[in-house]
This record gives sequence, C-alpha cells and structure tokens, in this order.
Amino acid sequence: MCGIMGYVGPQQAAPIIIDGLKRLEYRGYDSAGIAVANSRIDVRKSEGKIVRLAALLDREPLEGTVGIGHTRWATHGKPSDLNAHPHTDPTGSFVVVHNGIIENFQTLREELESGGAALTSETDTEILAHLVAEEYDGDLAAAVRRAVERAEGAYALVVMTINEPRKIVAVRKISPLIVGLGDGETFLASDIPAVLHRTRDFLIVEDDELVTITEDGAVIETIDGGVVDRDVMHIDWDAEQAEKGGFEHFMLKEIYEQPAVITETLGGRLGEDGTTWLEDVEFDDAFVRDLETVWITACGTAYHAGLVGREIFQRVLRLPTIVEYAHEMRYADPMIKRGDLTIAISQSGETADTLAAARLAAERGSRMLALTNVVASTLSRYADDILYTRAGPEISVASTKAYLAMLIGQYLLALRLGTARGSIDRERATEIARGLNRLPAQVEEILEHDQAIVDAAGAIVDADDIYFIGRGLDYAVAMEGSLKLKEISYLHSEAMPAGELKHGTLALITDDVPVVVVVTQRATYDKTISAVQEVKARGGKVVAVAYDTDTEIEKFAEIVLRIPETDDLLAPVNAAVPLQLLAYHVAKLRGHGIDQPRNLAKSVTVE
Ligand code: F6R
Repeated sequence: MCGIMGYVGPQQAAPIIIDGLKRLEYRGYDSAGIAVANSRIDVRKSEGKIVRLAALLDREPLEGTVGIGHTRWATHGKPSDLNAHPHTDPTGSFVVVHNGIIENFQTLREELESGGAALTSETDTEILAHLVAEEYDGDLAAAVRRAVERAEGAYALVVMTINEPRKIVAVRKISPLIVGLGDGETFLASDIPAVLHRTRDFLIVEDDELVTITEDGAVIETIDGGVVDRDVMHIDWDAEQAEKGGFEHFMLKEIYEQPAVITETLGGRLGEDGTTWLEDVEFDDAFVRDLETVWITACGTAYHAGLVGREIFQRVLRLPTIVEYAHEMRYADPMIKRGDLTIAISQSGETADTLAAARLAAERGSRMLALTNVVASTLSRYADDILYTRAGPEISVASTKAYLAMLIGQYLLALRLGTARGSIDRERATEIARGLNRLPAQVEEILEHDQAIVDAAGAIVDADDIYFIGRGLDYAVAMEGSLKLKEISYLHSEAMPAGELKHGTLALITDDVPVVVVVTQRATYDKTISAVQEVKARGGKVVAVAYDTDTEIEKFAEIVLRIPETDDLLAPVNAAVPLQLLAYHVAKLRGHGIDQPRNLAKSVTVE
C-alpha cells in the first residue's frame, strides 16, 4: 500500500520521483516524502497528498540526480510530517524508505535507545536507518545485509548514503520491489505503473534478494551475497492502460474495460466444446480425479469472487468447496489435507492475509493455485499452478474488472476440472463455452444502456441504509454489490441471503428503505420473490437486477435493472455490472472522490 520510487541517472531526480509517486497514488497513502543526494542528502516530506509535497519542493527545491521517494500508509505512528518517510540516521548520512512492517520493532527500538540513540519519529522505519548506519564500514550493500539480519518482518527497504552517492541499495522480503532499466538511468519502484512510461524493461526483485542500482543498471544478489542472474522482463502493457483515457474516474474506465477483459481472460484458453488450455495450470487428470475438496481463500472483493466460485465448483464438479476469508482461515486450523486443491484469489497477489493462508494450505500438503492479476506477484511465486486473470493494471481502489476476470478464471477452471473428472459431459461443457463467449457482447450491451442505472442511483442516493439480497449465485453477487456501494459512497449497506431477511433484518425495513434484489436464478426465483414481497409489504423500495426476458419482475420491483439472459451459471458476470455502476453513480452523486476511498488502500500488504 505504500509506494516506493528511486532514481539514478543524468536527469534531475526530484521531478521523476514525484511523477512516479503520483502514478502510485492508487495504492493509497497518507503522507509523502523525498530525499535527493548532492553534496549532502536533503529530505522534504509532508503529511497529506503529493501535491503538498510538490508545493513544498517548489518553495524549497532539491537539486541532484540520485534520489528516493515514498508514499506512506500509516502502520506505526499516525500520519504526520515527522512520521513520513524518508528517515535518516542521526548524522543525516544514511536515508531510508520502507514498505512493510518490522515485527521486532519494539525490541530494536529499546536496544537502540539503551545505546544512547535518539529516535525522532514513532515509525519502525527510522530504526532501520539507525541499524544501517551502525553496520556501515564502507560498503552500503554489506551494511544493509547486516541490518536486515537484525530485523524480523516484511519489507521493501531502500537505502542511500552520502558516502556512496551514485548508488541506491534495496532489499526485499515480501513487500514488492521492481527495477526499471532505462538508457543510462535506472529506476526502483514498488510497482510497474510508476515507471512504465519511462521504460518497458524490468527486473523483478524476489524475496530475500538485494539489489544495487546505478546509472549503468542493476545487480541483484541473494541476501547472503549469492549471484542472481535475473532475466529482463519486457512488459507489453500499453501505457494508456495505466491512465484514465477520457473517463472521469479510473473506476468508470475499468468498468467499461470489462468486455475487453473478458475476451482477454478467455483468449486462447477455451475451445468451442469447452476444452481448456490453461498455460500455467499443471496438475494432471489423476490429481483431478482423486480430488475430494476444493478450498478457496481470499479477502474483500476477491473473496466475493470466491463465493461465486464455490457455487460454480459445487455445481460443475459436485465436490465440497469451502470458501474462507484468508484472515480467518489462517487462524482456524482448517482441515486441509494432502491432495486437496486450494485456490488463492488476489488481484494484487500481495495481500498479506491471502499469502499467509496460501502458505498454510501448501504446508498442509494441498496443491495451491494462484488466481491473480499481477504477473510475478508474490502469490504467483508461491503457487504450484497459476491462472492469470489478464485484467491489466487496476488503478481504482474499488475493484471491478479484476473481479469479473476472477469469475471468468473460475469458469475456466471449472471446465478444466469438470471435464477431467467426468462430472460434466461434452454437451454441457459446450453450452458453458458458448455462454462464456457471448459475455463480452452482453456486458457491452449493459454498458450501452446505463440510463436506468443512473436513474436508480438518483432514487436511492439519499438513503441511510441499503440492503442487498439474493439466493445462491445471486447472493454471492449481492455481497459484492453491497461492498462496492459502501466503499465508495460511504452509505451503510449490508447483503444477506434472501431467506435470511425474515430472521432479523426485516425489522429494519420501513418506508422507502432501498432493497436491491438480484434475481436471476430460475431454480429459486419464486423463493426470492417471496422475500421481495415481505419487503414490499413493509414499504421498502425494491430495486431488482433481472434478466431482460423476465416478464414478472415489474409486478414486484419499483426499479428494474435489466441484464441479458444467460445460462444461470454465468449470470453473476452480467449481474455484477449494473451493481458496479450503481455504486459508482451513487458515490458520484454524493460528491465523493471515488478512485481513492477514505481509509482504504489498493493493496493491503500488512495483516
Ligand atoms: C474492494 C477491494 C478489496 C480487495 C481486497 C483484496 O473493492 O478491492 O476488497 O478485493 O483488499 O485484494 P487483492 O485481490 O489484491 O488480494
């Protein structure tokens, strides 16, 4: 969630670093800072958004061609100028920025203080600056190695010293770090979009590796000093993809990218008869035939994608499928066993809880499949099998296109597993494949007819509380619709299975309380309508998401958001789209910033 940017080259460092940090704003942060080396190292930092830091730099410029910068999301110590990174040792000769958490921070702090060190901030990061200075004997890389040996936890730590002013040393454990290779200049960042407009050639720094960058390039070593020969990764993403491209917000742009995302995610992976080719999914048919349990673990929107996955796998594979929040699973002593399949879902591939749950599953002998959007993310490197969602960089904190791509990924997996197990026949696989291939055009159709959704947003914008209901797959979509709405509109919203309403929440349904019902599943249609009747009888305002072929729904719902009819198994893809747009338009009407909701971060890399 914090952003890192570093630069060594012929150009002034400060503008390049500020520009890179701006491109990382989507990760969420509460303060920002920069250090530039010249005849000495100078630091500027400021609580709040990068514009404040940029204004400070206008008043007090930094000259120099080597520098590091950071956007901080508070973990130890509140957001403030003092706690913002970079941090220095007492002499100001060593300067560090850091993402992650140092777990033995308190012990180290006491150790340093008992040795007479005066710490000026509340952060765990400042301690690292002191440790590096203590360990320095003329070789920065060696000092960083020894310093991190004393620290426990997760970090991407970037260090500069005035004693070796033309280099930057960085080390990684868990928190992401990449190197961008330019012509006579080298960049460091926590994420590729920071420098994608400057270079397309990257080196990915792995866990327990140390990298030294100069204008001539980068040398990666293991933390013990072993040689690493890392291949350069050429990234083809269109730079436009990482920018707003005409839309008012990244979220809206990403919603509109969804037809293309579905096409991309399916691309080259699905035959007309439902045969699949999933390039990094390597388990064999014998493993699939012996499979007894599928586990799915994830957080937030990815967890909601997992709820859809559970229904898909149970229907297609007829296998018990257990979905657990990653932060629950890791402490629940789950009965995962050798021969199980665990699917860890994460857009970023860096969510700390999901990584921990995935590791736990692997330790217990389960095969671990990563369903992730970020190539070379930490999750994908832990995995036995990987299915990349190919949604492209997702900038809006509220996830939309990555969610839809996660659903598509799970349909592909279900086809792969179901055909290998013989739990679906060729005819059914062909039907599903046909339905999947029609989805891009159907989502396009929803996006082209969004006026009803804008009107619905106007009708519910003044509510205090909103409820979302559905059954089975519709319930899974309702969960996601509710999360989307609350995270960007700050409206209180809750989702529950339609049948659960009468067991308590119905007490809250009074005149004009909006209840959004997702009602696509034919097998439970009448049952869901019974819940809708209960709402109507109490004066609730019913907004329904229903097939365009549903001729009954208008009798029960005040507002109907139509979606093209599909095979019921595939309905979540279409049903999610109006709910994403509903959340977007409500948030916009309420005047919120949308892409960076308060208190939230794009990538939650701490527990
Ligand atoms: C909500 C949202 C979050 C993430 C969650 C997991 O819109 O984006 O709930 O889904 O933090 O993130 P990933 O998928 O990166 O593991």
